[in-house]
Amino acid sequence: MTDKVEPLELARGVYWVGVIDWNLRDFHGYVTPKGTTYNAYLIVDEKITLVDTVKAEFSAEMLKRISQIVDPAKIDHVIVNHVEMDHSGSLPAIMTAAPDATIYCSKNGKDGLHLHYKAYGCEDWDIEVVKTGSELSLGSKTLMFIEATMLHWPDSMHTYIKEDKILLSSDAFGQHIATSKPFDDEVEDVMAEAAEYYANILMPFGRVILKYIDTVKELGIDINMIAPGHGIIWRQDPAKIIEAYGRWARGETNKKVLIIYDTMWGSTHIMANSILEGIKAAGVEVKLLNIRKNDLSSIITEVLEAPVIIVGSPTLNNGIFPSVSELLTYLKGLHPKGKQAVAFGSYGWGGGAVKAVEKELEMAGFELIEPGLQIRYRPDEEGIAACLQLGERIAGFVQ
Ligand code: FEO
Repeated sequence: MTDKVEPLELARGVYWVGVIDWNLRDFHGYVTPKGTTYNAYLIVDEKITLVDTVKAEFSAEMLKRISQIVDPAKIDHVIVNHVEMDHSGSLPAIMTAAPDATIYCSKNGKDGLHLHYKAYGCEDWDIEVVKTGSELSLGSKTLMFIEATMLHWPDSMHTYIKEDKILLSSDAFGQHIATSKPFDDEVEDVMAEAAEYYANILMPFGRVILKYIDTVKELGIDINMIAPGHGIIWRQDPAKIIEAYGRWARGETNKKVLIIYDTMWGSTHIMANSILEGIKAAGVEVKLLNIRKNDLSSIITEVLEAPVIIVGSPTLNNGIFPSVSELLTYLKGLHPKGKQAVAFGSYGWGGGAVKAVEKELEMAGFELIEPGLQIRYRPDEEGIAACLQLGERIAGFVQ
């Protein structure tokens, strides 16, 4: 995206009018070291149409960008693909500028708008409900709507510009990258960022994603460009990100084991390294992450690609160490599909962490493939040997 005066035109009459949030470092808990963008799109045809808006604090910037192209008062239609406020937050500002505009959204979107914007007079807004396959003629261009329920909110939908073959995909296929280069062929590591975004936002919705991909196939639409609600626009190879979503949604992984742990006095750390050595010795790729030295967002991205996760926690006050608890709470919400797990950890007297971690892992949807290993105080030679053997056995599950 660009801050320069010339508007960014994706196709004739289709403009990016979003904003770049360069300094965003936390997106409701998701760590965003590269910032993000809130992408909105303006279609100038016989009917002038805005697709999505931006976070409320950037309303003036978006209106200024629109004003470089048309008078915002001339907007006829506003498409609300998604009610979450990073995309709808500037709707009150738009409806103030263009009070006669008609809003198009899903049924759940209409309900969501009423629950968010009562204080802004939304009762007076003209809101039309659309469904998958509904079309709206703008003159020379036609919009078709595709409901994307629970991808990732109940109200989510996408807008397809038929003549330009552009899919405006709201949160789906996005990434949190703030960049002055708007397209996938201009930015490195876009797939890695897309994977992190998928893991942290869309992982719980694999079944919905596969159904959505089927719907797009059934509609028989060609897609030349995917313009999501965040990050770069896929113009070089939009099929690549759809294929990746299919792969992630089906739970396809690399042959890799991930060890995630925290430690109090180093004993669980010794266990983690010994288990790692056992896995390595069996010729299987393994990665080790200390929870307090890595942010949860990047840990979850590693979980996406690993079929087996080993979680280690020391016992603190008869239970799980707090940082490990936080990880497990996050995992329960994301509920990864088709993954296996093992728990381990050290303890001093009563123990308790390993059993509790196992319970949480099961609640998060993991299949436990080995009994948890716990060692009292420091791992001695025998304890280290037990860790090595556990690692070797675990490696057998991914070979
Ligand atoms: Fe980017 Fe669900 O909001």
